[in-house]
Formats: sequence, structure tokens, C-alpha cells
Amino acid sequence: MRLVGDGAWGEPADPAEARRILRQAVDLGVTLIDTADAYGPEIAERLIAEALYPYPPGLVIATKGGITRQGPAKTEYVGRAGYLIQCVEMSLRRLRLERIELYQLHRIDPRTPLEESLGALMRMREQGKIRHIGLSEVTPAEIEEAARIVPVATVQNRYSLADRRHEQTLQYCEERGFGFLPWYPMAAGKLLKPDHPLAATLANLAARRSATPAQLSLAWLLQRSPAMLPIPGTSKGSHLEENVAAAGLRLGLDEAAELEAAAGP
Ligand SMILES: NC(=O)c1ccc[n+]([C@@H]2O[C@H](COP(=O)([O-])OP(=O)(O)OC[C@H]3O[C@@H](n4cnc5c(N)ncnc54)[C@H](OP(=O)(O)O)[C@@H]3O)[C@@H](O)[C@H]2O)c1
Repeated sequence: MRLVGDGAWGEPADPAEARRILRQAVDLGVTLIDTADAYGPEIAERLIAEALYPYPPGLVIATKGGITRQGPAKTEYVGRAGYLIQCVEMSLRRLRLERIELYQLHRIDPRTPLEESLGALMRMREQGKIRHIGLSEVTPAEIEEAARIVPVATVQNRYSLADRRHEQTLQYCEERGFGFLPWYPMAAGKLLKPDHPLAATLANLAARRSATPAQLSLAWLLQRSPAMLPIPGTSKGSHLEENVAAAGLRLGLDEAAELEAAAGP
């Protein structure tokens, strides 16, 4: 999402740099890239194919459909079957894939029965165009309802050290073996700003561990649950390198507790 224009609208300032960052991610060992047709719209998926096709073995591109975009940060949810089928077909075409490994319903459309939205994705799955189906911004009750219609593989909800409103959903996913992809894993960058309430605690621990606040926030997520699969966004190669390296950082129980105490419930 950070590789397109502001508010997920329009071309990036430097498309060649966006493609370079995508290649750098793969070179650094990243095996999952989360995107959506609504990023750009269409532009992020196109850049991914331009940068990485033919894809290296084992690379999973997870995309989403169900949010339309009319301008910077201006969206509307559409879950009608015909629309979602077109979304899948167009993502396949842009990504130059024969099958999308993980296709996520970006939002439940309150004006469309869930059976209709997920029924369309199920049809795409039966035709071999989708491998796994995921959901985004859902409660345990919604996951339960969805799981009666389709096999659910993953849930993508807003979650970070600074925003734990979906703690219950995380727990639910962990218990049932669903993957949990926290979006805004660094609170869209706000967690890393000096004026954030957690800044002093993060800076202090970062100095003690010779790490950065970004790395600590990602390491905390990775240790928080075995279901967790953080998808940090960046437009900078140096940040990408730093964020990937966070996977090798282990926090002590006391350090994780210190961060959680500062973050509050
Ligand atoms: N399902 C949904 O509804 C939904 C909604 C929003 C996002 N998402 C997904 O979540 C992903 C991540 O979201 P996000 O990018 O908005 O939020 P984020 O990962 O929490 O934060 C990204 C912000 O942090 C900065 N940043 C990243 N690494 C940094 C580092 N090491 N040091 C300092 N600053 C750093 C980035 O700036 P720089 O560019 O300068 O690095 C950017 O401004 C998106 O790419 C998208 O795939 C999903």
C-alpha cells in the first residue's frame, strides 16, 4: 500500500524505486506480499507483476477485493457477486497469475448478504482461481458466520502494540489455527513518532537492545502469537531492511511485559 500515491491513490512518485523495493524484499527473503486491487487502484498489483514476474518459487502474493476507491482515502465497500468475480479475474490478469494463493474479502459489505460475497469467492476457488480465502476487519461472530459458508484461512485486522482492539479476534484465530495478519502493524508509522505515548519506552528499550523502535514493535507482534503474520508497509529500502531484520530479534518476557504495560490495555 505504501508503494502507490498518498491515500492509496495514484502512481508512486518514483515507480522505478517502488519496483526496486519489491525486488529487494524478495532478495531479503520475504515470501509473502500483501496487496489489494484498491491500492492505486490497480497500480500496486501492476507494479508487483512488473517487478517480480516470473515469480520466484514460494512467493505468495495475497490480494484483496471488495473495496472500491474514488479518491485519496475515499472508499466504498461492494460485495456483490458479479463485482467480486470481476475483481478476482482482473487481479489474476494484472498479477499475471493463474491462481491467487490467498484472496481476502477486503470488507464485508453491509448491503450484500455474506452468502453472496463469499459464495462468489467459493465459485472462484472451485474453478481453481483462488487457493485460500481470507477475511478482513471482522469479529469472531463474523468469522464464525463466514466459516459456515467457506473454509477460512486467514483474518486481516488492524492490530499493533498501540491498538489492541482486536485482541479477542486474535485469540479466536489462534485457537482455530487461522493466520492473523495485523494491518497497520506500526500504527501507520504513528507508533514510531517521538510524540507517540509509547515513544519514550520504545526508545529506551531500543537503546538497550541496539535495535530500533520499528524492530521492537514488529518483534513484539511476532512473539505475541503463533498465528501472527505482520505485513509492515514501507516505501524505503533502508526501512525494509530494518523491518526484515526484526524477525531475528527475540524479546525477553520482561521486555514484552514492559512494552505492554506502557501500551496499556
Ligand atoms: N486490510 C485492510 O483494510 C488494510 C488497511 C490498511 C493497510 N493494510 C495492509 O497493511 C500494510 C501495512 O500498513 P501501513 O503501511 O499503512 O502501516 P504500517 O506498516 O503500520 O506503517 C507504515 C508506515 O511506517 C513507516 N515505516 C515503516 N517502517 C519503518 C521504519 N523501519 N522506520 C521508520 N518508519 C517506518 C512507513 O514510512 P516509510 O515509507 O517512510 O518507510 C509508513 O509511513 C499495507 O501495506 C497493507 O498491505 C490493510
